[in-house]
Amino acid sequence: MCGIVGYIGTETASDIIIDTLRRLEYRGYDSAGIVTIDSGQFHLCRAVGKLKQLEAALSACPQNGHIGIGHTRWATHGGVTEANAHPHVADDKVAIVHNGIIENYRQLKDELVAEGCSFASETDSEVLAHLFAQAADNGLTGKDALQHVMARISGAFALAAIFVEEPDTMLVARNASPLAIGMADGVICVASDAAAMAHLTRTVIYLKDGDIGVLRPGSAEIWDKSGMPANRELIVSSASPIMVDKGGYRHFMEKEIHEQPDAIANTLSAMIDGTGRLTAGMSDVDCDRISHIVILAAGTSAYAGEIGRYWIEQLAGIAVTVENASEYRYRHPAIQRDGVAIAISQSGESLDTLMALRYAAEQGLKTYAIVNVEESSIAREVDTVLPTRAGAEIGVASTKAFTAQLTVLLSLAIRLGRHHGRLSDDKAEALTTLLRSVPGAVGQAINQTEQIRPIAAELKRATSCLFLGRGRLYPLALEAALKLKELSYIHAEGFAAGEMKHGPIALIEEGLPVICLVDNDPLSEKTLSNLKEAQARGATIITIASQTISEEIDFADHNIVINDYDPVLSPLIMAVPAQLLAYYTAFEKGTDVDQPRNLAKSVTVE
Ligand code: F6R
Repeated sequence: MCGIVGYIGTETASDIIIDTLRRLEYRGYDSAGIVTIDSGQFHLCRAVGKLKQLEAALSACPQNGHIGIGHTRWATHGGVTEANAHPHVADDKVAIVHNGIIENYRQLKDELVAEGCSFASETDSEVLAHLFAQAADNGLTGKDALQHVMARISGAFALAAIFVEEPDTMLVARNASPLAIGMADGVICVASDAAAMAHLTRTVIYLKDGDIGVLRPGSAEIWDKSGMPANRELIVSSASPIMVDKGGYRHFMEKEIHEQPDAIANTLSAMIDGTGRLTAGMSDVDCDRISHIVILAAGTSAYAGEIGRYWIEQLAGIAVTVENASEYRYRHPAIQRDGVAIAISQSGESLDTLMALRYAAEQGLKTYAIVNVEESSIAREVDTVLPTRAGAEIGVASTKAFTAQLTVLLSLAIRLGRHHGRLSDDKAEALTTLLRSVPGAVGQAINQTEQIRPIAAELKRATSCLFLGRGRLYPLALEAALKLKELSYIHAEGFAAGEMKHGPIALIEEGLPVICLVDNDPLSEKTLSNLKEAQARGATIITIASQTISEEIDFADHNIVINDYDPVLSPLIMAVPAQLLAYYTAFEKGTDVDQPRNLAKSVTVE
């Protein structure tokens, strides 16, 4: 949430910063801003809305300085206004950009106001600008100024500050929010992730929590939270430059839906060793140790975890609990100390998931992460990474990262099932062969879109709808409801089909769309009865079903049919029509598919 950028070098800072912000816009798009220093003064430009608004504003007043900072905002404290957009400037001396939340800002603001500071915004972040200005007034610079500010603030932050009087210096600090420093000849830059500046340099330093740094072109002095010099490793980042190209598709989301066969195939190749054996990235010692799993994740990643629970419990007989990361550490859960924790995260930066993971590690659990961004905070903190190789996901609604997560989870279930003797070698091999067929089956499902568009054209008129599923398709129904609501703003809820009669059936009224995912498995008869119960009360029935079972669903108002597949694979294959239904409904409605309102791709606040 919020992307920050800083640059000192030889090029026009505003050009570099805008280009880098474009690659960080996935982190927030409520407003954007930039400040540079030229001829001994700040040049500030901010605009409400997406980055293109800032670009338009900048073209009217170009900036020439070689040092600057920039920001793309996901609003937390204070509405979406220009005054609340970053950077914030205090006393024409200091400018800051901030990602995170300064939790004690209320008390700091009261103190600063009592001391005569006047605030121009409603944000928590502006206190940082005033605290740095106060430090400058006290004659503090560099490390001393940073320590002055750090001693006062609590919360999550990644920040960068520049001073009119020191136009070759940038101060940075990090706690819980991500920040990478990029180094090149005569240049220093910072960004919320290394991929955003991979077009500038791949030589990066990742700050650790509590680190502060004084940056000048070609040099970075860093101290840890106790004030001791910290020798942070200079690494060559493997992050690929974030592509800002839709490759001929209308939206990144559409492109990413179509990239799923490759994302799944690439992920699967990381699960298989050089001899063709499915290891799921786990050694035998790792597998021995696993007697209970707690999955920590948020949103779509948590639904992937729920589906993983069905697979791991059924195929490996290992108990799994799935926890909403935002709840886990605060509810003081009873920890099974012989278990392991698996975080699932596309971005590897969700603060809730990172904090839950740290809590699990503090309780003595070995930690794993199923993560798409290999140099992310979560990937760097866990004992073992089980990578998803989906490639950069730009569309805010997760699609290919989700099916890549499912690929890892099914691989893990097969691996653990075989290791713990629940699956025979033959059965495990047969399942692995099925897994290898998934990219092809997903490709076929993607090509069945023509059935979905007319249904989406009707669905766009709904104000509410329900998604139903049983077994492994129940968590997928939750995910399908999330996709529809976040993209099209239509209220949608997912239920276990068998739960309807216990209350939610009261919601059914004439014409309410009830969308059901149906598998060709022994429970399908029960699911179809649940659908008839809904239809008898006036619901419009839409089913997503495989060929054979669809022949029994002649009573549905609309039936989206996909080729038959083995039911164990159902969440992987059925995810596709669920995604396409949400995509086309949003498209028909004309909402912002790639950047839905109020959302951000990487959620680095609690
Ligand atoms: C929904 C979506 C979110 C994320 C959630 C966790 O389409 O993308 O629900 O899944 O914010 O994000 P990660 O996986 O990056 O931790």
